[in-house]
Amino acid sequence: MTDVGIDAIEIWTGKLKLDLPNTFAPAKGEDPEKYTKGLGLNASSFPDTYEDIVTMGANAAHRLMEHEGLTPEDIGRIDVATESSFDNSKPVSTYIAGCLERVYEGKFSHANKGERKFACLAGTQSIDDAYNWIKSGRNRGRSALVIATDTALYARNDPGEATQGAGAVAMLISEDPDLVSLSTEQGYGSADETDFLKPNQQFPSVDGKRSVQVYLARMREALEDFEGVAGRTHTDDFAYIPFHTPFPGMVRKAALFGYRHMIRDTSMEDDLAGEIGRQPREEAFDSEGDFEEALREYMDGLKRTDAYQEWYARVVDPTLTISREVGNWYTGSVHLARASALKTAFEEGRELAGERLLVGSYGSGAQAEIHAETVQPGWEEKIADLTIDEGIERRYDLDYDEYERVHDVHNHDIESDGDGEIEEFTAPESEFVFDGWGRM
Ligand code: HMG
Repeated sequence: MTDVGIDAIEIWTGKLKLDLPNTFAPAKGEDPEKYTKGLGLNASSFPDTYEDIVTMGANAAHRLMEHEGLTPEDIGRIDVATESSFDNSKPVSTYIAGCLERVYEGKFSHANKGERKFACLAGTQSIDDAYNWIKSGRNRGRSALVIATDTALYARNDPGEATQGAGAVAMLISEDPDLVSLSTEQGYGSADETDFLKPNQQFPSVDGKRSVQVYLARMREALEDFEGVAGRTHTDDFAYIPFHTPFPGMVRKAALFGYRHMIRDTSMEDDLAGEIGRQPREEAFDSEGDFEEALREYMDGLKRTDAYQEWYARVVDPTLTISREVGNWYTGSVHLARASALKTAFEEGRELAGERLLVGSYGSGAQAEIHAETVQPGWEEKIADLTIDEGIERRYDLDYDEYERVHDVHNHDIESDGDGEIEEFTAPESEFVFDGWGRM
């Protein structure tokens, strides 16, 4: 059976930067370490006034097509994953294809286009759609272009405001991919939840504390479901574990739970028993409260063990490098985590071909999906092409007043001047920019 997976990737960050410890924290009267240590974030990428999900997605896709030497003929479908769509009828992929058709000769008239929505999970679901399309033999030798693009904005003074972000990840899904192949096995954890939702509204209504619990519960179910088909997972099975990263502190929590799950009833649990005891078993407790207290104590101990800290530093922390600087990109987030890990391995000169990743995607509403990936022999060349570091470095550093003005420009509930003109920020040439409706 032919391998199918991600052949190439391109990452486009919003052009502005909101510095959390130096700009956001003083304005909010908060301790900077709440953001850098608590949430694990240094900054977020913010969309400039001439940027939106279409421009960022089109710029990422254009760059991907350029360095892969692709023409529209090579692409049989364009799937956009987003939870920031502005059109209830036309999929965002049609807008993006329209942009690309201004640059490339030939049209995407043969390409199937769509838009996928399940909060942050939709990027992975679009990859799954492409995978199934190729595996079924309907692709006629063509690849799929998957673009995860979002402006992850929250209302001002919402606790989520510190976790905002904006950017797009474009991925080419092909047979015999150069970057990673995807496992047939997948696991799901899904339930109707209301902790994060946007019913006919731009900014989400969020119960932040509950959303953390829902994320952990759905991820646990997905891991168990994955193990039901792929067999038990162990801490040494995977070179990296990229997870959806709304903020690195969230992944820190998920990793500890994942580690505990993986060492349960293994020699690793035996080895640690002298130091922190054995994991509490629910059935041994009379009340749920007593079990939870015992579990909390065990987890506190586990977190401090050398074994856990070494594993976390090696397998999880490298997935968070990009996120720390750009915040939550919703549909793109887990794909940033994968790229971040592979980039670290590349920079360390590590040989990774044949090694496996355990990828955990998540979308509020809520659903988690876990699958495995195998790194392919061509991975280094593809990762060497990434320009995300330059993009992060080049961002304009907003002061707090500028941040509020730009946030207002992106707020659909605030009336614009009415002439469709954008504010004074200078849009660069040779990029797709938004300059008002009807004149994209
Ligand atoms: P908050 O309530 O303002 O923050 O916002 P907090 O008081 O919980 O503090 C955060 C952490 O910082 C805590 O660490 C504090 O202890 C620590 P923890 O106890 O959790 O490990 N802290 C400090 N550390 C060091 N020095 C200090 C200090 N002060 C505090 N001085 C909240 C947190 C998550 C509620 C907020 O960011 C939020 O609402 N975010 C949006 C929702 C979200 O991201 N949820 C994550 C799971 S849901 C998800 O991932 C889906 C999503 O991507 C959407 C989608 O799928 O479409 C969001």
